[in-house]
Amino acid sequence: MPESDLVKTGIKGLDEVLFGGIPRGNIILVAGSAGTGKTTLGVEFVYRGARQFNEPGVIVLFEVAPDKLIRDAALFGWDLRELERDGRLKMVFTTRQVFQQELLQADSVLLAEAAEIGARRIFVDGVGGHEKPQNFGPAAGGQWDAIARADFCCASATRRR
Ligand SMILES: Nc1ncnc2c1ncn2[C@@H]1O[C@H](COP(=O)(O)OP(=O)(O)O)[C@@H](O)[C@H]1O
Ligand SMILES: [Mg+2]
Repeated sequence: MPESDLVKTGIKGLDEVLFGGIPRGNIILVAGSAGTGKTTLGVEFVYRGARQFNEPGVIVLFEVAPDKLIRDAALFGWDLRELERDGRLKMVFTTRQVFQQELLQADSVLLAEAAEIGARRIFVDGVGGHEKPQNFGPAAGGQWDAIARADFCCASATRRR
């Protein structure tokens, strides 16, 4: 695959494992038990995009408040507030229900806001009800179609035991 069709995560070691990065336009589901680093991986993906690759990003949160995420990210040396101030990052704190309804609407406020900053990466933390990969993507009633039109989306879910 040509290099230009690959989105570099910028995460140390991960791009090598992925043979250069993630194909542009793909939606990736990160699954794992609580505490395995899903949120951190998603945040780093958006952070590196905005910081290193000039690809602004959106982080959608359901459980973790933005302030906590900002604090946790700071422990890794990632300044999310600065990115937000510079218009390279948008953090959206909402409910799963509102988010899913949003995606089904033609005039989605979320996607309009993403477009406003020229977002190229989206990380949705904790997509409930999508624990099974087959429930994710076009099969899930088309709700991810709109978001897939952004170049790339990284979503996380907690795998149920
Ligand atoms: N790559 C990493 N290196 C060091 N610590 C990490 C890494 N990824 C996650 N952690 C730490 O592990 C804990 C859980 O990470 P988190 O991303 O919240 O997991 P999850 O979202 O899967 O529950 C946090 O304290 C986080 O700082
Ligand atoms: Mg998490």
